[in-house]
Amino acid sequence: MSSTAIDSAALKNCITETNVPGYENPYRGKVRDVYNIEDDKLGIVASDRISAFDHIMKQAIPYKGQILNSLAAFSFNHVDDVVDTHVVDVPHPNVTIAKKCEPIPIEVVIRACLTGHAARVYNSGKRTLCGVELPDGMLINQKFEQPILTPATKAEEGHDEDISEQEILEQNIVDPKIWEEVRNKAFKVFERGQKIANEQGLILVDTKYEFGLYNGKVTLIDEVHTADSSRYFYADGYEERLKNEEPQKQLSKEFLREWLMDHDFQGKEGQTLPNLPDDFRIKVYKRYTELFEKLTGNSFEPTALSMDTFNQELKDIFDQY
Ligand SMILES: Nc1ncnc2c1ncn2[C@@H]1O[C@H](COP(=O)(O)OP(=O)(O)OP(=O)(O)O)[C@@H](O)[C@H]1O
Ligand SMILES: [Mg+2]
Repeated sequence: MSSTAIDSAALKNCITETNVPGYENPYRGKVRDVYNIEDDKLGIVASDRISAFDHIMKQAIPYKGQILNSLAAFSFNHVDDVVDTHVVDVPHPNVTIAKKCEPIPIEVVIRACLTGHAARVYNSGKRTLCGVELPDGMLINQKFEQPILTPATKAEEGHDEDISEQEILEQNIVDPKIWEEVRNKAFKVFERGQKIANEQGLILVDTKYEFGLYNGKVTLIDEVHTADSSRYFYADGYEERLKNEEPQKQLSKEFLREWLMDHDFQGKEGQTLPNLPDDFRIKVYKRYTELFEKLTGNSFEPTALSMDTFNQELKDIFDQY
């Protein structure tokens, strides 16, 4: 199959939920099913679910789990000289075997540009975001002089809330020494992500990291520099578009959010989640593929899967650890 060709079987065979025999009660995130496979190991299965505005869409995206997990694996690989990562093994395109960490309950968001949430805050007239001062006179999507850290609390339920570094420390959410290490590592990982993106003609605009502790050591967990956790712009023409105040060419989930807003959905109470039509699901698949191929320089070769056999395949994989 060519990298972007897709057929109706792929639309029907999406991995929406896994149930691995012998491995009960996985934690189901919006995208991943997380299984305990050993006291200190997790089997993290990236499904084809897609979420936006904190809601899981009713239709899944063909091969999204594979693209996401493979891109995360690529990116983890490229930062593991800068930070300890949770990756133990990637035995299947959808699966990461990871060190089971004690999560640090903060979303560590780094931004190189005034985009997304930061832009919305800026447009509302505010000039501080998470305790960080924003200079006057910036254009939307303009680069900051230095990347900024704008953390959010990882809420058990509902929306994540902005928080300043000072508040994180005052409220004893993270030990000061550990926080110092987390923030330093986050900036270093971001710098590396920018370098990799630049080499491929992309700009890493912003990203969200999660960290955990493994035997007391600060460890990068979850996913890194993927389309779900990051925004990228095409570098080519960026300055021109910025000057003309035109939208940037993005590779991220933003266009799903835009499509949803065009269909009157922003995750607010009383709004109905629209169905994603097949042609749109294919478009989303192509966007994910485009980012994978652009960033890694490799073509994406989908591995055909069927829900009938996948759970057993996962069991066979988990049994090996
Ligand atoms: N190495 C790890 N150790 C412990 N927890 C991890 C590790 N890697 C990822 N996680 C957690 O596993 C879950 C991954 O699932 P997913 O990304 O689908 O969740 P989410 O919907 O983004 O987040 P959540 O469900 O926590 O709101 C997240 O809760 C993440 O914090
Ligand atoms: Mg997540």
